[in-house]
Amino acid sequence: MHTSTQERVIRPAQNVLGSLRLPGDKSISHRYGMLAAFAEGTSHFTNFSTGADCASTLACMQKLGAKVNKLEDGSVEVVGVGGRVTPTAHPLDCGNSGSTMRMISGLLAPQEGSFTLVGDASLSRRPMERIRKPLAEMGARLTLTEGHAPVLIEGAPLHAIDYTTPVPSAQVKTCVLLAGLQTPGTTTVREAVRTRDHSELALRAFGANVTRTLDSVSITGPQALHAIDAAVPGDISSAAFFLCAAALFPGSSLVLDSLGLNPTRATLLDVLSSLGARIAVLNLEEKHAELVGTVQVSAPAQGMMSAEISGALAAQLIDELPVLAAIAPYTSGGIRIRDAKELRVKESDRIALVAKNLRAMGAEVTEFEDGLDVPGGQTLHGATIDSGGDHRIAMAFSVAALRATGETLIQGAESAAISFPEFFDLLDQVAER
Ligand code: S3P
Repeated sequence: MHTSTQERVIRPAQNVLGSLRLPGDKSISHRYGMLAAFAEGTSHFTNFSTGADCASTLACMQKLGAKVNKLEDGSVEVVGVGGRVTPTAHPLDCGNSGSTMRMISGLLAPQEGSFTLVGDASLSRRPMERIRKPLAEMGARLTLTEGHAPVLIEGAPLHAIDYTTPVPSAQVKTCVLLAGLQTPGTTTVREAVRTRDHSELALRAFGANVTRTLDSVSITGPQALHAIDAAVPGDISSAAFFLCAAALFPGSSLVLDSLGLNPTRATLLDVLSSLGARIAVLNLEEKHAELVGTVQVSAPAQGMMSAEISGALAAQLIDELPVLAAIAPYTSGGIRIRDAKELRVKESDRIALVAKNLRAMGAEVTEFEDGLDVPGGQTLHGATIDSGGDHRIAMAFSVAALRATGETLIQGAESAAISFPEFFDLLDQVAER
C-alpha cells in the first residue's frame, strides 16, 4: 500500500544545461521482460528500466517460473519458461503498474491453472473491465472485483477474435495480442488511434510473426518466442521532464543521448517545436526496430508560444500531458488540452491533481471532464504540492517549480521511483542555481 512519506524541496533554477543518458524505457522494458520470461532460452538486457513498475513485472514472471538475474554490470538476464508458466497459489503483486496487470492477464488467460493478480491502492481503483471484455470474448474465465483488481484468472483454451478497442490503449492491445499468440487462428486488434507499438515490434524481435495495417494488428497462434539480447532505449516519457525544463529557460541547452524515438512515442518533440523550442535529432539508428537517437533541445529566445492538444494527439501524448500542463503558465498563449479523459483513470486523477497543484502555485486554470485550459503569461510561486503518490505528478511539478518564485515542497516525492528513481539527482545535475 502506498504511503506518501518523503518530501522534497525544489529551489528555482537560473538555467538548464548539460547532457544526460536516461535509464531504459518503461514500456519497452515491461515488454522485453515479460516476453523474455515467457520465451525459450536466455535473454540479456542492458539499460533495463530501473523503475519499480518494471521490477513488478519481473517479480511476477519469477513467481511464474522464469529466472531473473541482475548482473554486476547492471544488466539483466532472464531465463524464460519456454511458453508454459508454473501456476502459483500466491497472488501475483503488480504493485502500482497497470501495464503489468493488463498485459500479464492476456499472457495468463490461455495458460493452465488459476492465477490471482493484485495491486496497490491506486492500481486497485483502476478500470480492468477493458481487458475482461475482449478476453471473455475469446472464451477466457476472468473475474474482477466490481470492475477492478483483484483479477482472478482460471486459465482455459481460447479462440481467436477480431476486436476493436473502444478506448485507445496499448495495454489492452497488448493483452489481446499476448492471448492471441497462444491461441489457434488469427486474432486481430483494431484501434481508431494508433497507440504505442512496442508490443508489435517486441513480438517480432522475439521471433513472432505479426502483421499490421494502418489501423490493425494481427497475430496467428500458437507461436513460440525465442530469447534476444537487447539494449533498451532511454525513456522518452522520463526525458519529457527534462525537455520541458530546458524549454523554460532562454539560453538553455540539453543533450539526451540513446533516447527512444519510436514515432508512436515522440509526439512531444513536435509539440515542443511548435511551442518554439529548437530541437535537433542526431545519430538515428534502429535497435530491434525501435528508433534510437540523440536529442538536443534549447529554449526559444522569446519564450514559448501556445499549443492545442486534442484528438489523436491527446492519446499519443497521454503520459506527457501532466508536465505540459505544468509548464503551460510560462508560455505566452497557454495550453489547451481536450479528449484526454483517460487522464482521470491513470495512477491518479491527473486532471484534478494538475488543476489543484497549479492553483496551489497561484495559477489560473479551468478544468474540464476531458482536459484543462491553462492560460499563458502567468507567474507561479512556490507551494506545497500533493503528488497523490503519482510519479508523473511529482516530477511534473518539480519542473514547474524551477521557474517559480520561492521554494516548492513536493509531497510523496518517493513516487518518482515508480518510473524514474534517478529523477531528482539528474535534475540537480542539470539545473543551474
Ligand atoms: C502504456 C500505455 C499507456 C500509458 C502507460 C504505459 C504501455 O496506458 O499511459 O503509461 O506501456 O502500454 P494505456 O494503455 O492505458 O493507454
